[in-house]
Amino acid sequence: MEIFHISAECYPVAKVGGLADVVGALPKYQNNAGHRVRVVMPCYDTKFRKENEFECVHWGHVKLGNFNFPFNILKEQTDKLEFELYLVEIPELFDRKEVYGYEDDIERFLSFQIAALDWIIGRNEIPDVINCHDHHTGLIPFMMLYCDKYQKLQNTPSMITIHNGLYQGQFGFDKLYYLPEFDLAHVKVLEWDNCINSLAVAIKCAWAVTTVSPNYLNEINYSANGLESLFNLVRYKSKGILNGIDVEVWDPATDAMLEKNYSLKNFEKGKQENKEKLCNLFNLDPSKPLFSFIGRLLEEKGGDLLPHASALALSENFQELNILILGSGNAVIETQLNSLLSDYKGNYNTFIGYNEELAHLIYAGSDFLLMPSRVEPCGLNQMYSLRYGTIPIVRRTGGLKDTVIDFGDDGNGICHDQASVGDICYSIQRAVDLYDDKKSLNKIREIGMKTDHSWGRVCQEYIDIYNLIISKK
Ligand code: GLC
Repeated sequence: MEIFHISAECYPVAKVGGLADVVGALPKYQNNAGHRVRVVMPCYDTKFRKENEFECVHWGHVKLGNFNFPFNILKEQTDKLEFELYLVEIPELFDRKEVYGYEDDIERFLSFQIAALDWIIGRNEIPDVINCHDHHTGLIPFMMLYCDKYQKLQNTPSMITIHNGLYQGQFGFDKLYYLPEFDLAHVKVLEWDNCINSLAVAIKCAWAVTTVSPNYLNEINYSANGLESLFNLVRYKSKGILNGIDVEVWDPATDAMLEKNYSLKNFEKGKQENKEKLCNLFNLDPSKPLFSFIGRLLEEKGGDLLPHASALALSENFQELNILILGSGNAVIETQLNSLLSDYKGNYNTFIGYNEELAHLIYAGSDFLLMPSRVEPCGLNQMYSLRYGTIPIVRRTGGLKDTVIDFGDDGNGICHDQASVGDICYSIQRAVDLYDDKKSLNKIREIGMKTDHSWGRVCQEYIDIYNLIISKK
């Protein structure tokens, strides 16, 4: 089967969050299962772009109203990611360091989608299926169905995978003329709540809708930032498929970013060596339990609760635990977290920024991983931490609920229900007690390390849906 994934992120080319990890891994597993898989994404000014060889396989112009943007399609030469990678180069719009956050993001991602489709229809073969990811690619299913110049794709199934329904890519009808020509009888399809809503458009037009966990699919029927009723309407073509992880990249036995590799056989010793390295780097106490947070410092991830929860946990258990935070995001949260540094020196530290290598060391060297998310469509960090023998402490929401079960119910982690400082601190207290009971602690770590969260296990579920929509042609 010939599959196209179209996405704004893909690890290791450009990463902001978990979307990149999924689009960097799922295609590889599909490719290795015998399918021909291509990933198409914008060409940002990243290290990967500079350090790798590309060949220009197509060029053209995107017309956005009165604007005209030349573009190139660049193919990575070696297929070293184990799938074919294509970058859509639109220098004026994407030759920048960041993936998102610019005033012209609407123009950027619309041009990207148009350039990608222009190239796809110009090729000899039509793909069997086009899998779009999140709102940045949400207009593609509409354009395939209704835009005159993409008529050739009218009968090609498209699927939207929703990694985060909070972000929907809305814009005003004043920009309607940016879209390639289509019969205005279909203009209503673009509308949700008086705007053009890219995610809503994809949900309406795609032949199938998937979310990144089954529980998240249930949740968005009653909480989806205004799209609840739409999700209810399309249940017949929706499915929640739990994400997997790339168990080649995420393997404590071979991970080159660790101080010491380890497996189920020697994890106690292996984890301790990584912990010592980490504690050395961050001036923490390796004899005390180490709680870490890795991720974007946003309300959605419960980041705003971390400063207060950390201060409370540290003052109640002074010197009985360590907390380490790696992440960036909201500037107020970053400042609040840094303001605790002087009070809890020796037991608390932060690294404000993104550092993939450090993240690996933290998964290996920590005892517990904090994930107090308000919204977590799937969450990958809890799966990485389970694989590295680190016990996740999660709020029961989205995919966290699908993957983490409280140790009180013979599970693999520690769970709480509220996104509140009180609930986080209560869980931390339970973890501190558990840490003293090494036999139970190790048993729970083992359960986590033994769980198979590999894409190998779930990759077929995607293929099954593709087959289902192909059969409806
Ligand atoms: C988004 C979601 C996260 C999910 C990831 C990959 O970042 O917030 O929960 O794991 O996408 O699907």
